[in-house]
Amino acid sequence: MKTVLVVGASRGLGLEFVRQYAAAGWRVLAGLRHPASTDLPAAITTHAIDVCNLASIDAVAEALQHELDHLVISAGALGVKNLGFETPDPEDFDRVMRTNVLGTIALIEQLAPRMAAGGTIAVLSSRMGSIGDADSPFALLYRCSKAAVNMVVKCAASAYADSGLRIVALYPGWVRTEMGGPDAPLLPPESVTGMRRVIDDADAFPSGGFFSYRGDPLPW
Ligand SMILES: NC(=O)c1ccc[n+]([C@@H]2O[C@H](COP(=O)([O-])OP(=O)(O)OC[C@H]3O[C@@H](n4cnc5c(N)ncnc54)[C@H](OP(=O)(O)O)[C@@H]3O)[C@@H](O)[C@H]2O)c1
Repeated sequence: MKTVLVVGASRGLGLEFVRQYAAAGWRVLAGLRHPASTDLPAAITTHAIDVCNLASIDAVAEALQHELDHLVISAGALGVKNLGFETPDPEDFDRVMRTNVLGTIALIEQLAPRMAAGGTIAVLSSRMGSIGDADSPFALLYRCSKAAVNMVVKCAASAYADSGLRIVALYPGWVRTEMGGPDAPLLPPESVTGMRRVIDDADAFPSGGFFSYRGDPLPW
């Protein structure tokens, strides 16, 4: 049985990953901040992970009973969506950068040794993190954090190349979740089905790449 750990599994895209992998017969581990308040089925093992609390990541890495075939990092924070080029509130800056950047680095570093041979780490990034695509300062802080996440993915892919670990950045599309909002055209099942196809196809979507849920390569 293959094993996946989804971090940020309480709602949105992370929850949809949990549902789809469970339906596909995987052993599913769900990392979320408040396991006690989840109503996930009992077959899904929950782990308390707050990606801003590095000790919680260390504890999960130690507690894992199975090697991971896939690690999906879906936890993310949007912060205040400024319209123009404005200095972010420093507290918001710390929260968004710690969640999206520091948390992703720590998850990859601590969990890479717990990955099975040929395993894949999928990091949910955003098209808003693409410098090549940037055409507006809208949500500047979030854009900067996701641009940094993209760099984390490139550096991790290079750091773990010799161990055969594959690390990719994924853009889920604009999806109707709490973060995506009610006007988003895409629903989580379609986005996650597409991302799972990319995650499963190591030949078509190699380590160190940035791909949309449809499998299109994106500019960094
Ligand atoms: N939706 C979109 O249109 C869209 C587009 C591009 C990229 N993305 C990316 O896709 C990922 C998932 O987004 P989403 O739409 O599912 O967002 P969402 O509905 O807002 O869900 C965010 C998830 O992240 C978790 N989270 C936040 N801070 C955390 C922390 N410190 N530790 C652990 N978990 C934490 C939340 O848990 P709590 O319930 O505990 O808060 C929740 O499970 C994010 O990385 C996002 O940037 C989304």
